[in-house]
Amino acid sequence: MRRILFVDDEPHVLEGLQRMLRPQRQRWEMAFAPSGKAALELLETRPFDVIVSDMRMPEMDGPALLTHVRDRFPGVVRIVLSGHTSLASALRAVPVAHQFLLKPCDPVLLRATVDRACDLKHLLGSEVILQTVGAMRDLPALPRTYAALVQALADPDIGLEYVGRIVEQDISLAARVLQLVNSALFGLQQRVSTVRTAVSYLGTDIIRNLVLSVEAFRAFDGVAPVGGYSLEDIHAHAHLTARIACRLPTDKAVKESVSAAALLHDVGKLVLMSRLPQETARVAELAREHGRPLHEAEREVIGVSHAEIGAYLLGLWGLPLPVVEAVAYHHNPSQVPHQVFDCLAAVHVADALAQTLPSMATNPFVPPALDLQYLADLNVQDRIPEWQSMAAEVAAES
Ligand SMILES: [Fe+2]
Ligand SMILES: [Fe+2]
Repeated sequence: MRRILFVDDEPHVLEGLQRMLRPQRQRWEMAFAPSGKAALELLETRPFDVIVSDMRMPEMDGPALLTHVRDRFPGVVRIVLSGHTSLASALRAVPVAHQFLLKPCDPVLLRATVDRACDLKHLLGSEVILQTVGAMRDLPALPRTYAALVQALADPDIGLEYVGRIVEQDISLAARVLQLVNSALFGLQQRVSTVRTAVSYLGTDIIRNLVLSVEAFRAFDGVAPVGGYSLEDIHAHAHLTARIACRLPTDKAVKESVSAAALLHDVGKLVLMSRLPQETARVAELAREHGRPLHEAEREVIGVSHAEIGAYLLGLWGLPLPVVEAVAYHHNPSQVPHQVFDCLAAVHVADALAQTLPSMATNPFVPPALDLQYLADLNVQDRIPEWQSMAAEVAAES
């Protein structure tokens, strides 16, 4: 049973939600509170997985309520359901929310958003993550341009033209999208010089992922290097991993998730560097002194690794589950039932190959190992040498 708390000061909104969500009663245990104060009282009496709150309410408004929830019940996923205000102003006003929905809310979208938040808690299933990530102050919000794109793409009447315009509005973002589009990653024969052409070449899904990865890194701009590695190192490693991952034999249907997951697989490191710099420095020290991979040292010092933290953040941003899963398990892929060489497999292999290249000899940390049993289960263990030379080639190209 999932436990959801809805908060709105307008009785007809709560009644509408109640009516709309009646079919969910077998799966969701729902409570409805008419004010922030009533919501906090309910949270004191029993646990909830998700809170869905209105923005504008008298006395305690949505942002004030969600701030209390963040501080006192950090394991609860915080979703804003706002009317009137545009999405952009909601994003500005609410650095404490994990996701945003607009009124009137489509029941399918609401159900999917809440279910995904619950699945994620289940998938990652660790109180430590919920407590660590949930309690972080100013967790980077869903990037703004990405949010605008998701909104636009949800409308079937909106064309590629308009999507291109959203991206173009942000000049540095547009420049980086073009740079990525023209990179070896996509292997296009022709140079692409306008964002609108890029959109029509690549399709909206890929553009959406590119925008997300560019913006996700920008959310951490200016993060100081900690314990011997920096934003630039992580960025370079992410791009190399993505280029290698795209050349691995995954199904065409998951190719697009593969590039997003590979680009973002270590985003949890950025979260740790910016939010827990002292702990991260201790992690680096431990990893170096005892020759342990970073993710193991992180588990020892912090209780969770960058993999789960990054996955949790991406999940809160509403990324598709295959991407979240690939990020969560990129160091321990065999923890997930596996039959095919999927997105997770590609990220696991590409990450390990990228870190064991001879050119990485100066890397101060022990690289994560390839899970040979897992690759044997997938019947691809014989291909490792071939992939190693491919990875070396890709690295040399850059
Ligand atoms: Fe990693
Ligand atoms: Fe990595």
